[in-house]
Amino acid sequence: MSDQILDATNPRLQAPYDRRGLEALMARFGSPLVVIDCDIVRAQFHALSEALPGVDLHYALKPLPERCVVDTLKALGGFFDLATNGEVDLVRKAGVDPRRCIHTHPIKRDSDIREAIRFGVRTFVADNPDELGKFVRHRARSEVLLRVAFRNPAAAADLSRKFGCEPESVPALLDLARRLGVKVVGLSFHVGSQTPTPDMHVRAIDSCRELIIAARAAGHSLSVLDIGGGFPVTYQEPLPPIHEFCAPIRDALAKLPSGLRLIAEPGRFIAGPAGTSLSTVVGRALRDGRWWFYLDDGLYGSYNGQMFDHAMYAIRPLRDDGSRVPAVLAGPTCDSIDVVREEIELPLLEIGDVLVGRTMGAYTSSSATDFNFIRRAKVIAINEKPESESAE
Ligand SMILES: Cc1ncc(COP(=O)(O)O)c(C=O)c1O
Repeated sequence: MSDQILDATNPRLQAPYDRRGLEALMARFGSPLVVIDCDIVRAQFHALSEALPGVDLHYALKPLPERCVVDTLKALGGFFDLATNGEVDLVRKAGVDPRRCIHTHPIKRDSDIREAIRFGVRTFVADNPDELGKFVRHRARSEVLLRVAFRNPAAAADLSRKFGCEPESVPALLDLARRLGVKVVGLSFHVGSQTPTPDMHVRAIDSCRELIIAARAAGHSLSVLDIGGGFPVTYQEPLPPIHEFCAPIRDALAKLPSGLRLIAEPGRFIAGPAGTSLSTVVGRALRDGRWWFYLDDGLYGSYNGQMFDHAMYAIRPLRDDGSRVPAVLAGPTCDSIDVVREEIELPLLEIGDVLVGRTMGAYTSSSATDFNFIRRAKVIAINEKPESESAE
């Protein structure tokens, strides 16, 4: 049996954690845990930077709004994508330069806009006349990207269902902004999270190219294109490496007119592979020929992404003698929906055994609840300093 419990989607990253290392983390920090490996954050950031040269990566905080991730990316010269006052607060406390941040929630209260401006953010997103109107009183200290919708049912979360204007409405919104004195500096889109192919990114970039050319011809000086997030990670079925995934996106970007700053808002791709869930069997029962193993983390906790994010994480037992019994993995709450895996083959686990969930950094701990007063998993960071510094 291999002692290598964890690895990551990136083949360069065979994270050298062994069983003893993970047991030591549990002994020190308790259970359940979500372990964030900052080395993997670094590697994912570098991989996407190399796959999208010339594109500034604004890490979208929502999948994993943790200080260790912000510090790691700040040290690499990364940029940030904020959507709420809590996220503004987090980057402010981390000493991030507000000029490296954009605020991309398409629907905001005036108090949200004020808070971000007070911090020093200048670039916001709007997708409709009312939202543009909110910037009239802030027009001296703000600029806006128009968010365009590109529906994508193939994505795990089709974000254009909820946000974005139709491409055909862009000229009218640009004209309205001009009348209002609100400065629109570019376009943005999000083709949906965990999008399985680059096709929709390419279509959206091509469509924005036409919109930008037409807008410039009408006298609007657009200088930014924000291609959003959506870059996928491997949960179960392997995906092509990100450099290969992004090849058609690079080709589409190369056809854009000159004088554009290109930015992206990756969240999942940076955070997902960096997170590992560790939970403990707290009870077991044999029901109808299947072993039910009850964990101290579940669907209302770190595994909520199986509900909200349509993800299906790879789960392995930390102690594995190779034997198998038909099993069910259940969460700790009293709710019957709280089942992490209905049909799984596992060794006959004992109370105290540990389960390891991989690629669980994105949309897991950030959307966990305290339902039933069950304490959510503690999030801890490892490898906070890059290898070069830790060796010193
Ligand atoms: C505006 C915006 N930007 C970026 C992201 C991050 O997307 P992803 O995690 O797919 O990279 C999201 C996710 O909801 C979003 O709403």
